[in-house]
Amino acid sequence: MLQPDPIRIAIIGLGSRGRFLGEAIQGDSRYRLTALIDTDPDNLRGGRDYLHSSAALYTSLPQALREGDFEAVAVATPDFTHEAVAVACFDAGRHVLCEKPLEITAKGCENILAAWRASGRILLIGFVLRYVRKLRKMHDLIASGEIGRPVMAYANHEVPEGSRWYFHDWHALRRCSTGLLLQKGSHDIDILNWFMNATPVRVAASGGLNVMGGSESDNLTCGRCARSGNCPDCTTHIDHFPDLSKPIACVHRRSVDVEDNHLVIIEYDNGTRASYSECHFSSYPRRSFCVIGDQGRIETADDNKIHLTRRFPADRAVYDCLPAEGGHDGGDRLMLDDFFRAVTENAPTLADGSAGRISVLTAIAAHRSMREHRMVEIEEIEAEIEHVDNLQSAAV
Ligand SMILES: NC(=O)c1ccc[n+]([C@@H]2O[C@H](COP(=O)([O-])OP(=O)(O)OC[C@H]3O[C@@H](n4cnc5c(N)ncnc54)[C@H](O)[C@@H]3O)[C@@H](O)[C@H]2O)c1
Repeated sequence: MLQPDPIRIAIIGLGSRGRFLGEAIQGDSRYRLTALIDTDPDNLRGGRDYLHSSAALYTSLPQALREGDFEAVAVATPDFTHEAVAVACFDAGRHVLCEKPLEITAKGCENILAAWRASGRILLIGFVLRYVRKLRKMHDLIASGEIGRPVMAYANHEVPEGSRWYFHDWHALRRCSTGLLLQKGSHDIDILNWFMNATPVRVAASGGLNVMGGSESDNLTCGRCARSGNCPDCTTHIDHFPDLSKPIACVHRRSVDVEDNHLVIIEYDNGTRASYSECHFSSYPRRSFCVIGDQGRIETADDNKIHLTRRFPADRAVYDCLPAEGGHDGGDRLMLDDFFRAVTENAPTLADGSAGRISVLTAIAAHRSMREHRMVEIEEIEAEIEHVDNLQSAAV
């Protein structure tokens, strides 16, 4: 059988994620990395050097879309830019692998999905966890009825590297990320939605900024204060910090306004429920998922194993799922497989736009719930999209 030509792809955003994605793309012979795009010339050159790439370089996305030789893009720019970047790419006829979260506002999600539908191109959301073998296996066991009807679930992520990835830059500002339940938790919320095979309808949450944040100056940079020798979050103690060549902001600066620990309860449209907790200063790395059905229970935590138990007749099974090679327990490589298949066969993706949208809406509702101390309906967030639409059409 004739092999399809490699997909000519550009990476937009050469920060930490763009560079890791670039490595995965370069390691896959079905892709040819033909362009690198970043509005910051230093990051663009840094990304090129990191990847030892001879791809064309652009600091202007419009110029790259006019002149560049690529049919697909991987969007790895900050969350608050996804709408402008993804819509421009769809309008220019490119397939889009868009990093999670889809956007930081509900309206931004709608606009991306509208541009995607109008373009007839492929959209894949960077929900790498869906591609991790053990989570895929766990999903398939639930979907095949092994625990009966899923009724409740809980998930937890203790992020010991929370301060490394989330509190030194734009991630820690509500205006750029909305909050970390959306920024990071959209992954875990998506997995819960996928496992439960149901749509969230309301959310209750509690959260706070209890360890990060503080009263330091916004100009204070890491490693330059008297406390840095004893500070667990000082980047000079952290191996492989993304880019130490630039000054890095202190996690205790005044402007930090996202929460660093959260507890969330989600109710689904079929009367079932799930909970999720996320902590950004734990000393122990832990990510776990458990689903309990009317006939059994399934769980995975710190290793490659899935534990399945059944109520009647009592029974138990353990599945060992070795990860594929590459980043995110092999998820990056398997995600690129799915994107390749979708583009070459014009097929749906495992992580599609509707999954991206509902995880954003759920996380927005959770942030609102914890900040306003009330349960929030997803309908409330959706109604606001219509309200913005009505205001816009009234203004025309
Ligand atoms: N799927 C995953 O597991 C995963 C992991 C990490 C990050 N991410 C996502 O990847 C995205 C990037 O995160 P990051 O940590 O690499 O951020 P970053 O700040 O390290 O890098 C972002 C880069 O985008 C560039 N940029 C900003 N605006 C741009 C624009 N309009 N056009 C072109 N370039 C622009 C910046 O100059 C920077 O080089 C985020 O959406 C994040 O959520 C996903």
